[in-house]
Amino acid sequence: MNVGIDKINFYVPPYYVNMVELAQARAVDPNKFLIGIGQSEMAVSPKTQDIVTFATNAAKEMLTKEDLASIDMIIVGTESSIDESKASAVVLHRLLGIQPFARSFEIKEACYGATAGVQMAKNHVALNPNSKVLVIASDVARYGLKSGGEPTQGAGAVAILISQNPRLLVLEEENLSFTQDIYDFWRPIGYDYPLVDGPLSNETYVQAFQKVWQEYQKRYERTLKDFSAFSFHIPYTKMGKKALLSILETETSEEQTRLLEQYEASICYSRRVGNLYTGSLYLGFISLLENSKTLKEGDRIGFFSYGSGSVAELFSGKLVKNYHEHLNTQDHQKLLNQRQALSIREYEQMFEDSLDIHQSATFADPTPYSIIKIENTIREYRES
Ligand code: HMG
Repeated sequence: MNVGIDKINFYVPPYYVNMVELAQARAVDPNKFLIGIGQSEMAVSPKTQDIVTFATNAAKEMLTKEDLASIDMIIVGTESSIDESKASAVVLHRLLGIQPFARSFEIKEACYGATAGVQMAKNHVALNPNSKVLVIASDVARYGLKSGGEPTQGAGAVAILISQNPRLLVLEEENLSFTQDIYDFWRPIGYDYPLVDGPLSNETYVQAFQKVWQEYQKRYERTLKDFSAFSFHIPYTKMGKKALLSILETETSEEQTRLLEQYEASICYSRRVGNLYTGSLYLGFISLLENSKTLKEGDRIGFFSYGSGSVAELFSGKLVKNYHEHLNTQDHQKLLNQRQALSIREYEQMFEDSLDIHQSATFADPTPYSIIKIENTIREYRES
């Protein structure tokens, strides 16, 4: 039986900062952000939008009544959880109107979380062919104003529906994970922002990719020629390219050009959004599908998932016949183009204006599923 990605959609908050303006405000050469980091714009979220807001907006439009009746598991991968105990997936289950006999929970392992969800979903559907699983990656990536990580912030969610006979991509059995107990990026309980060793995180990302790729080739007798493209976790768009280049050194120039062209298609959206943490790999996949000029039915895509701390995984899938008929390219471009640009002052004010859940309050953010009320620490979301 074929199991894989039947539908996929993303949502980002309606504000962004231009990276040239951010560079100028931080007295940095703009080319460092545009070329060195590879980011043009960065998504910014107001205090009235959280992982539930992003997740619901990402999932709502793509799910039909039939989907809502068939989904029996909702998995949210996040490292921006809004509660130490209750899973955001439970709130999402109600907001989306999914049938009651479902399992709803959250998974955490930095940016890797959603991939654990995708693999669990695939196994669940393989055993229960009539079920569908909703996997959501939703996060707010924040390092702090004027911090080293500031140009690699972002926010948003990706919603993925896993089912049998998928319309986009069949997930293959080949996959390989790699765990290493390191401190390249972590956020102790009670900390608003992560602690990060930037150079170590870059180094371990590339090394993890090289290690899984080497072992993967041995175990599954694969070469680069078996892959039409790779989709990477994209904390900033230069990062995946560094990893890809590290395995292309001994390849012909045609082979390098072929995979680098696909890489460029995979980063179009991330370049305008920044890091989505768990969602970045899957935003890259959507961007690849919607911007590649050469992908076709039957092509194999390699996925490299990396979560600091660290867990990495390489897995693959094959594009389904007529997959391009099920893409939402125009809607996605509209979502990105209709965002409001913030001045640096507005961005800094929005950044510092944090939600106080100890203070009862009401809010007037018109965005669907934004927070409209806080009472007794509980968030109420806009449903109309
Ligand atoms: P930094 O110290 O600001 O930057 O840190 P840099 O000095 O390393 O420069 C960055 C690049 O810009 C360099 O290129 C420079 O040469 C270049 P590279 O050598 O790397 O190819 N550069 C210029 N290029 C053109 N014109 C110029 C110019 N000036 C410099 N004028 C860093 C950058 C990414 C480390 C920092 O922003 C950071 O700490 N970010 C957060 C950590 C991160 O994103 N790590 C990525 C791997 S870990 C990961 O992916 C997991 C993660 O998503 C978390 C999770 O799993 O939950 C982060």
